[in-house]
Amino acid sequence: MILIRTKEAMRRWSLAQKGAGKSIGFVPTMGALHEGHASLMRASAAENDVSVVSIFVNPAQFAPHEDFDAYPRTFEDDAVLSEACGMTVIYAPEMASMYPAGYATYVTVEGLSEGLCSRTRPHFFRGVATVVAKLFNTVLPDRAYFGQKDAQQCAIITRMAADLDMGVSIVEMPIVREADGLAMSSRNKYLSAEERGPALSLSRALREAEALLLSGERRVEAIDACIRGHMAPVKIDYVEIVHAETMKPLQVIDGPVLIAVAANMGRARLIDNLKFDTARHPQAAVARP
Ligand code: PAJ
Repeated sequence: MILIRTKEAMRRWSLAQKGAGKSIGFVPTMGALHEGHASLMRASAAENDVSVVSIFVNPAQFAPHEDFDAYPRTFEDDAVLSEACGMTVIYAPEMASMYPAGYATYVTVEGLSEGLCSRTRPHFFRGVATVVAKLFNTVLPDRAYFGQKDAQQCAIITRMAADLDMGVSIVEMPIVREADGLAMSSRNKYLSAEERGPALSLSRALREAEALLLSGERRVEAIDACIRGHMAPVKIDYVEIVHAETMKPLQVIDGPVLIAVAANMGRARLIDNLKFDTARHPQAAVARP
């Protein structure tokens, strides 16, 4: 596995691979890698001739009061896991080269960036879209792998890649969970032993909502109430029931639906979600009262 630290060397390497007719898979990350990241890396290694994982804690997506300085940095372990997952290159650009003095260009994906996480983190997706566009321009991937854990991020990157003719296919991978159901996240390291129990209420709430949907429930208020009830142990940021592609709030659950939740538990901000397509689960013939 090769470590590349500059934009110039990264581009040169990618152009050489393309010249040799090789497909490039790409997994953008902020490091502190865990099994969620590993699932993306393994898929990339399996589906492409060569694969790049980037590790860059992107200041443009953190607000001044957020955890940029505290964000876990575990480069040695990340390198071991990346190699075990079949990565060809780790790309870890220097901060100063990504945002030099005079940097002025940002990518905004309208509409999709408005609800859910944007409400409490208004500049977040502008920072994400910008850095991913910059990484795509350097790594030149054929396929890029993202996790459904960050479903709004996936929808935004998919839209951006299509709208800006980036020529990269975005692949969305399922959420990887701990044995107790908690969605894996680099920020789970912030949870104390006592906070872990309440943190499980997010995945439990989504499982209960899924059971209700499978039983034929289609009323948004009923699903919303079920989730909020189960999330009582944590400080809810949002519970949103939206169309899975447009991220627009729904009045009735119909078609591809994303149920997304966010909460604060101590120092950790937790997010989780569930996708459900009513076309795949037709309602029972007997209507509920
Ligand atoms: P990061 O939080 O490091 O996540 C990198 C990728 O791993 C994202 O696509 C994320 O959705 C995926 N991922 C994280 N936890 C996962 C889980 N439990 N199951 C499946 N996939 C999971 O997301 C970012 O970094 C940044 O915003 C980035 C896109 C790198 C831009 O800076």
